[in-house]
Amino acid sequence: MIYKIYQSLLFPLVASLTLDNVLHVQKALNTPPNAKNLDQKQIDLDKKMESLAVVPYNSEILSPFHFDKRQFYLAGQNIVIKQKWGQLGVAAVVWDAAVVLCEYLEKHRNMLEDKTVIELGAGMGLAGMVAGLLGVGRIDITDREIVLDDLRQNIQENVHNQVSLKTIQVKALDWSHDLENFTDHYDLVIGADIVYIEETFEDLLRTISHLAQPETEVILASKIRYKRDKDFYKMLGKTFSLAKVHYDKDKDIVIYKAKLRIHKEL
Ligand SMILES: C[S@@+](CC[C@H](N)C(=O)[O-])C[C@H]1O[C@@H](n2cnc3c(N)ncnc32)[C@H](O)[C@@H]1O
Repeated sequence: MIYKIYQSLLFPLVASLTLDNVLHVQKALNTPPNAKNLDQKQIDLDKKMESLAVVPYNSEILSPFHFDKRQFYLAGQNIVIKQKWGQLGVAAVVWDAAVVLCEYLEKHRNMLEDKTVIELGAGMGLAGMVAGLLGVGRIDITDREIVLDDLRQNIQENVHNQVSLKTIQVKALDWSHDLENFTDHYDLVIGADIVYIEETFEDLLRTISHLAQPETEVILASKIRYKRDKDFYKMLGKTFSLAKVHYDKDKDIVIYKAKLRIHKEL
């Protein structure tokens, strides 16, 4: 409540602030107030996210991140995603990359048919649930443990068809330590806006390589904000053949498709 009042008092002020001040105010607004309840590792990660939140990837002050709910019409149905920016930060809101990825998957739904799919860093799961609704063989929608309750809730509230619900599994996958729980290879690995914290890049690359076999297609939707984001794709390009397959000009989101270049010993 105090947080909300704080926000509403600040919004009218920001129009007259310099960019530096705006970024400073945003940093304050973007700090999850419940950080005290999280474990130390999570607090460290959130601090990292918080420091990233001051840069222009959230340059609109009245950002849709602050809405409690977002509504989309995708896969032939209305999808309502509950957001909790104040509690969970970046994982609990829908990013443009997820929307662009959903639209791409809708247009290319034949690539999903009967496939085993995994979504990495799913957040509130929009892209994974749309893939599930469009008709996959099976999809594992993954993120860090702390995100999973809200992720599950959003999926359950939007996916009513029993067949789709059976094919969608929500699983913990932190790129830094859960890989041993994933022994299967997937036909398709998808991710929206998961390339943004440099310290996670090596783990993310290892995760993608671990989940992929030579036929696996990796589809990543990204906003390229910094040189380091480009560098991630350069690193991915060392072991995967990489192509830009789509660019959404309005949202400034690129979709990359990658396939293992070097055949791993299976
Ligand atoms: C910018 S959000 C994108 C969320 C969602 N894909 C979307 O586009 O709406 C980045 C996501 O990556 C996840 N993430 C960050 N570091 C991670 C890690 N080490 N392991 C697994 N997921 C991670 C976050 O929890 C968050 O859900």
